[in-house]
Amino acid sequence: MEIAPVRLMEEARQALSRAYAPYSGVKVGAALLTASGAVYKGVNLENASFGLTLCAERVAVAQAVGAEGPQVRLRALAVASSRPGPFPPCGACRQVIFEFGPETLVIFQGEADLITAPISALLPSAFRF
Ligand code: THU
Repeated sequence: MEIAPVRLMEEARQALSRAYAPYSGVKVGAALLTASGAVYKGVNLENASFGLTLCAERVAVAQAVGAEGPQVRLRALAVASSRPGPFPPCGACRQVIFEFGPETLVIFQGEADLITAPISALLPSAFRF
């Protein structure tokens, strides 16, 4: 990886201020590194109709696909949250991350330290079509 996990987490933290989270109050930022070496970011985007909320990770993946196209490959993705304590990516985001990089290294806050784990370990038996 051309970028250290702590650096990618710092990029994710820098995105936090742009989150749109007036309903939960939980701001989330994601930063991902693609095989091309580019970094794309996303934030959570809530809505008055709560179920329409978009997670930061999937917004970041959409940015990457929109910029590089459907062949884009993720190498690492960091997720940061304004909420103290562990903040692992949700199951839906794990499935979407897996689609664009089954070897993606995922970086998130654990109980005490940053946790880094391959998406294949976070999502065993991922759905494939
Ligand atoms: N959220 C994310 O952005 N990513 C996740 O992986 C889990 C949850 C957001 C959705 C909502 O805006 C807020 O966090 C609280 O659930």
